[in-house]
Amino acid sequence: MSIIRKCLFPAAGYGTRFLPVTKSMPKEMLPLVNKPLIQYGVEEAMAAGITDMALVTGRGKRALEDHFDISYELEHQIAGTAKEAALTEIRHIIDVCTFSYTRQIEMKGLGHAILTGETLVGDHPFAVVLADDYCVTEDAGVLSQMVALYEKHQCSIVAIEEVSADETHKYGVIAGDREADDLYRVRDMVEKPDPESAPSNLAIIGRYILTPDIFTILRDTPPGRNGELQITDALMSQAREGRVLAYRFRGRRFDCGSVEGFIEATNYNYQHVYGAVQ
Ligand code: G1P
Repeated sequence: MSIIRKCLFPAAGYGTRFLPVTKSMPKEMLPLVNKPLIQYGVEEAMAAGITDMALVTGRGKRALEDHFDISYELEHQIAGTAKEAALTEIRHIIDVCTFSYTRQIEMKGLGHAILTGETLVGDHPFAVVLADDYCVTEDAGVLSQMVALYEKHQCSIVAIEEVSADETHKYGVIAGDREADDLYRVRDMVEKPDPESAPSNLAIIGRYILTPDIFTILRDTPPGRNGELQITDALMSQAREGRVLAYRFRGRRFDCGSVEGFIEATNYNYQHVYGAVQ
């Protein structure tokens, strides 16, 4: 079992870039071929030894709960047929994991979504996965890589990758002192800076390990970029005390929150993942 027991999935966002499909369907249920984004995130957490999945949902997101539940009628219909095999993975997830849910009533930013999850997480270090950042790796998944680092360093960790200067405005961006090839001790972090004010080109992607004092910090953090409560600002309080690492992960990330990234990931999975298991 992992030293990190819970994974939090902020999943309350509207997914406006995919309207109209996200009008009544959660964006986390958008499929890469035949498997929804949220399931990839859950599988990555499982691979890191985590079995407690905590979802922060919102209005119109009930399909997420139904996905991680038994579908009696359907399963009865296809029992004993070849189609049954298509449900093997999801049945395994349901057998092994527990799922808990809470609703974010108002969308006030990622920091607010994470703070809403406090009731599910409690007083333990936890992982955060933003399911629209889909990551593929050759060996250990990104969360597995980060859990191994947490075991050693016992502080908050953000996953980072290099982006071009014209993309910093889409991400939290860090500056830090290099501790190892792929590891920085964070000195500064800014949410969605313009290229001129970006402290570097190292952008945070949607994988975090957070120590639970982040909740107290979030409660005291004023609204930041876009008037929203930003996890980046709360992490900066920990970074001032040298308690945040930024890790350049091994693997490739697709930004499935954008149409281009979503199509790239779909094509990638059709070639490399879906084809391989059919
Ligand atoms: C959020 C965070 C940002 C981070 C990004 C990763 O932004 O606020 O710091 O870089 O996720 O995907 P969002 O994409 O929700 O606007």
